[in-house]
Amino acid sequence: MKKEIQKILVTGAVGQIGSELTLALREKYGSDNVVATGRKTEPSPALRDSGPFYFIDVMSRESVEEVVKKHDIDTIVHMAALLSGVGEKNPELCWKVNMDGTMNVLNIARDYEMAQVLVPSSIAVFGKGVSLDNTPNDTVLKPTTMYGVTKVCGELLCDYYVDKFGLDVRGLRYPGIISAETLPGGGTTDYAVAIFYDAVKYGKYTCFVREDTMLPMMYMPDCIKATMDLMAAPFDSLKHHSDFTVDGISFTAKELADEIKKHLPHFECAYEPDFRQAIADSWPNTWDDTPAREEWGWKPAYDLASMTKDMLDILSKRHAAGKL
Ligand code: SER
Repeated sequence: MKKEIQKILVTGAVGQIGSELTLALREKYGSDNVVATGRKTEPSPALRDSGPFYFIDVMSRESVEEVVKKHDIDTIVHMAALLSGVGEKNPELCWKVNMDGTMNVLNIARDYEMAQVLVPSSIAVFGKGVSLDNTPNDTVLKPTTMYGVTKVCGELLCDYYVDKFGLDVRGLRYPGIISAETLPGGGTTDYAVAIFYDAVKYGKYTCFVREDTMLPMMYMPDCIKATMDLMAAPFDSLKHHSDFTVDGISFTAKELADEIKKHLPHFECAYEPDFRQAIADSWPNTWDDTPAREEWGWKPAYDLASMTKDMLDILSKRHAAGKL
């Protein structure tokens, strides 16, 4: 008999996705039933005041297990990870945080016979030996970054726990996520968020990838919806488990700058590529997400125009209130 999701632990709850996902989960499952955890960064008042919060270290099984026991957790949403840019600067730490963290979460979930574990993956699983246009879901995975290596290993490890132990593990490959609440923490796609903040604050931005760089991106409301829809899908309808590509919007850095210019005509964007250009060049321009659409009905709502308008509305209001 499949167990129901009742008490959720979110790791990485202070991060870009975790901070908004935790609030959405609290809305759906009840505030006290969603326990937020982070490593060092202080939670926002919204996160801290809306339910339980703990500092933990995902690299320590005991540290995670203590909260699991205390709150009778039956589901773990494991968002804690080091991203691609930071990971290239410290590959060993990236391996430890991403792999030890995932292994600890999976072992605890198996030992406590949990209802579900969600471990996100990324666009970063792709790399060499694959077409970067309309990249298929199921294809060669030869990443060129340590972050990508940990995400491929993570997908394989999660699927292993499904096959070997019958644990319900799910995961989706996020594209670059664009949002206005919490800044991303050191990824290659961070320029697509920073450009909005700098456009509103300074009217100009220096982008760290070339203007013709195209990557798949997604606006946060779609990211939250994709995550919660996958969590809610009947297990029996899934053929894939930990490696669902989810498409949002693909655009070049220049197309994004041009869209912002429609609202802020004086906005200027310069391009000074750094080490992250090579990472961006190794990832898909566009990708195919047929399994997510077929197996759990995935469909994004936002396009470039609606996402840009929404981001600028939110950030302009905050700027006018002196809070940006
Ligand atoms: N946003 C991530 C990064 O750029 C990709 O998953 O590292």
